[in-house]
Amino acid sequence: MSKIIVSGLKPSGELHIGNYLGAIKQLVELQKKDYKRFYFIADYHALTTKYDPKEKREQIFNMAVDALASGIDPKKSIIFLQSDVPAHNNLAWLLGTVTSSGQLNRMIEYKEKVQAGHVPNAGLLNYPILMAADILIYDANFVPVGEDQRQHLELTRDIAETFNGRFGKTFQLPNALHNETSRVMSLSDPTKKMSKTMPNGCLFLSDPPKVVEKKIMSAQTDSQTSISFDPKKRPGVSNLLSIYSSISGKSTEKLVKEFEGKGYAGFKKSLAKEMVAFLKPLQTKRKKLLKDRRGVMKILEAGAKKANPIAEKKLAEVKKRAGLI
Ligand code: ADP
Ligand code: TRP
Repeated sequence: MSKIIVSGLKPSGELHIGNYLGAIKQLVELQKKDYKRFYFIADYHALTTKYDPKEKREQIFNMAVDALASGIDPKKSIIFLQSDVPAHNNLAWLLGTVTSSGQLNRMIEYKEKVQAGHVPNAGLLNYPILMAADILIYDANFVPVGEDQRQHLELTRDIAETFNGRFGKTFQLPNALHNETSRVMSLSDPTKKMSKTMPNGCLFLSDPPKVVEKKIMSAQTDSQTSISFDPKKRPGVSNLLSIYSSISGKSTEKLVKEFEGKGYAGFKKSLAKEMVAFLKPLQTKRKKLLKDRRGVMKILEAGAKKANPIAEKKLAEVKKRAGLI
């Protein structure tokens, strides 16, 4: 039987090349392998910090559009909205009964969000329990995660082990699938990660060619003139090389050779050209999908139709174990 992969995409704003290279690209590439894939838009997860409902609705739709435009293919993966599969939440309740508040209080993301001034609502604290349910309900073998979600996956394993220990083997323990592209750094400050919270140094998937060129040409580098890869000593140029490598498929060594003796301007111009060409098909697909809201919703509904019976079956098994039925 094929191994199972589960991943959730949280709709929290416009997608950038960091999100793409750090998360979505891997999900797309995994479609070439023999796995059963459940990819969903984690809309419930996106409600734990203050938001505007109208804006959130658009972010959820946009996340689906971006995922499809990037190459997540409903013929190869089951793609759906988390809130369309209620068994995730039902399981989360049961998992909450084997999770301690201490475990939740230790979560780095929770602590960081609270420190950043977000209201510590119960949803924010319980966020990882729902994530555990998302994963365990499909008996996932692998979960592609970025560094920031690693601790949540470890907690998922702990929760599964506790439940299995108390009620007998019910859940498969999921493993992390790590991404090669670790972190894309900001174009305006390469010591910080690229983030939508710093829009200047952030290359959005929707940026038109002129904006892409401007952002890349004005990316911060250093006072040296040669091109070399050294993320510690030369974060700016190394970040550009990594991005170039990820979108072109050429290794950073090969790129360094290619641009040997050429200045920053030529290198940046070439990267900008490559980036514009890379984004073009994605943007064309995106524009088309944005106009077809019904079509996109239909894809998500069809995905939920496939996911629901699988999730319900697992939930029934868990309820039986837990003494409910
Ligand atoms: P942002 O920092 O722009 O708010 P999110 O926190 O919404 O981005 O990120 C969503 C996912 O995209 C994260 O879980 C992470 O795996 C990935 N990601 C975000 N920014 C980057 C980056 N700069 N480099 C690599 N991956 C990233
Ligand atoms: N918490 C993840 C993030 O912030 C999104 C997510 C929700 C997820 N449920 C998941 C990721 C299950 C992997 C598996 O990016």
